[in-house]
Amino acid sequence: MAGRFPPAWLDELRSRADIVQIVSAYVPLKKNGRDYWGLCPFHGEKTASFSVSPEKQMYYCFGCKAGGSVINFVMEMEHLTYPEAVTMLADRLHMTVPEMQEDPDYQKKRDLRERLLSANREAARFYHETLFTEAGRPMLEYFRTRGLSDAVIRRFGLGAAPDRKDALTSHLRGMGYTEEELRLAGLTRVYEAEPATQDHPARPRALRDFFRNRAMFPVIDQHDGVLAFGGRSLDGKPPKYLNTTDTPIFNKRLGVYGANLLRKERGLDRVILVEGYMDVVALQQFGVRGVVATLGTALTNEQARLLKRYAPKVFLAYDGDSAGQHAILRGLDILAAEGIPARVLDFPDGLDPDEFIRRDGPEAFAKLPAVSPETYRMTRMEDEYDLSTQEGRLEYAKACAPLLRRLDPVDLEVHLQRLTVKTGFAREVLLEQIGRTAPAPAARPARRPVPREPAADGALRAQESLISILATGQLPKDVIRQEDFDDPVLKSLYEALAQGASPASLIEEAPEGPERARVARLMQRPNAADTNELIRMAQECLQSLRSERITDEISRLRQQVAELTDPEARRQCLARILALTGQTRT
Ligand code: UTP
Ligand code: MN
Repeated sequence: MAGRFPPAWLDELRSRADIVQIVSAYVPLKKNGRDYWGLCPFHGEKTASFSVSPEKQMYYCFGCKAGGSVINFVMEMEHLTYPEAVTMLADRLHMTVPEMQEDPDYQKKRDLRERLLSANREAARFYHETLFTEAGRPMLEYFRTRGLSDAVIRRFGLGAAPDRKDALTSHLRGMGYTEEELRLAGLTRVYEAEPATQDHPARPRALRDFFRNRAMFPVIDQHDGVLAFGGRSLDGKPPKYLNTTDTPIFNKRLGVYGANLLRKERGLDRVILVEGYMDVVALQQFGVRGVVATLGTALTNEQARLLKRYAPKVFLAYDGDSAGQHAILRGLDILAAEGIPARVLDFPDGLDPDEFIRRDGPEAFAKLPAVSPETYRMTRMEDEYDLSTQEGRLEYAKACAPLLRRLDPVDLEVHLQRLTVKTGFAREVLLEQIGRTAPAPAARPARRPVPREPAADGALRAQESLISILATGQLPKDVIRQEDFDDPVLKSLYEALAQGASPASLIEEAPEGPERARVARLMQRPNAADTNELIRMAQECLQSLRSERITDEISRLRQQVAELTDPEARRQCLARILALTGQTRT
């Protein structure tokens, strides 16, 4: 993940950033011993279990186990990706990001992006101001009849594209934006001059506003940049929604509508994904937090990953029509592929979220059942089979089997009950159906030595302690060696530490989630007063590791003896067990 930036440069960034100072901007800290302490910003708590170590340039919460470097902290607090957080810190510290130094086109591209962003910002301002003038009256009326308050209109920066040929274009030309810039931003269409034909007289070159006579929704990203617009037709002229086509600053597959407001949310337990601009705005108005929409396309992997940064779960809240149902199935596939837990909000009467919340109110919205992906798929499949016939029920049960196989026991029970009711088959019959279509377990090879079992808990704990001791950097070289580890993660942590990697960089490089939490935990200083005590701890760990390994080996040999038939081989095996047993007694 950190591969894009040179490690030495990152080390410099981390040490110049001073984690205590950065964290203090978000969380009040108090010094106690070597570390600083405060209330954890990642979970609600009343006693301080959040620690920041200036020595290791890392933070760790003993309550929720969140931990990492200053870069991880900025990622979490600002909902940024790794490269974004690095760039933001580098900006603050006036350090130049090396990859950017090397790209000769970088400056040019960045200047163009800046120009297009500022043209869009001016366009958004123009549309928004127009909304409250005579030219914007139909649009304002439209928003009002859709039940929007002035506050929410302002929060989303909604606007009006007047019913004129080039109102925006001439406004922005007057501000010094070039034709080329306006064309690239997708705000202006350029029609080249055409000679006369039989059908029409000669036409001069013309610049026309891309959006005309439309109610405008600016698409604003998580850095408050205006990237694009969606414009709803008011006179029935298709398309119903006209969207900015892809430009140098906008790719509709990457962003979501509402990202700017999502960024300000803290502690969301789910993001609600809807289909329409109007759904986002209407739900916000009724106080539903964390709602975003895709931009006129099906959910993409990139968008799914973006959402994952804001909440642990995604709820799909699409239209109840058949297009919406297809989109839900595809969306569930994408979310599953990205490993994001999902739920489906099922709206009654084919309503979309906006219509539903206006009809039944926010309490009813909050009470909507959040359906699991399996239940949703099973319900959809009911439509494909004729459950009034024995054959149809059988086919339906078979089709559901692969879905059920993935469930944990509790969910399985719930779904089995459903399926028993739907199909009339007994629970046992259905269970067998699920089992029978399961892939056959790999056959265990006969008469081959039993592979070494993974280290028992005790051995693993000892190895983990060794890593924590090593991470203090206070241990003489070669007290601990690579061979002391058989857990692959610990082995690679050992190698990295032995080569001088900093604890903070190791935490950053670990995959987000349980693995990073584990590395962060391991980088905590063990409870030892001084170097001598650390060395004694290391020796104890090594000793217990050694005896754990012998015990493991003995139990492996015992198993082998039971399977051996050749008397000579049996005798040798037993002798080895005896010898090892002797060693454990020393
Ligand atoms: P809908 O037609 O369901 O939109 O399309 P909606 O928001 O419910 O429409 P109204 O304003 O309430 O009547 C859902 C979304 O699909 C995209 C837009 O993002 C829209 O919000 N869309 C739809 C387009 O991009 N182009 C279209 O022509 C129609
Ligand atoms: Mn709608």
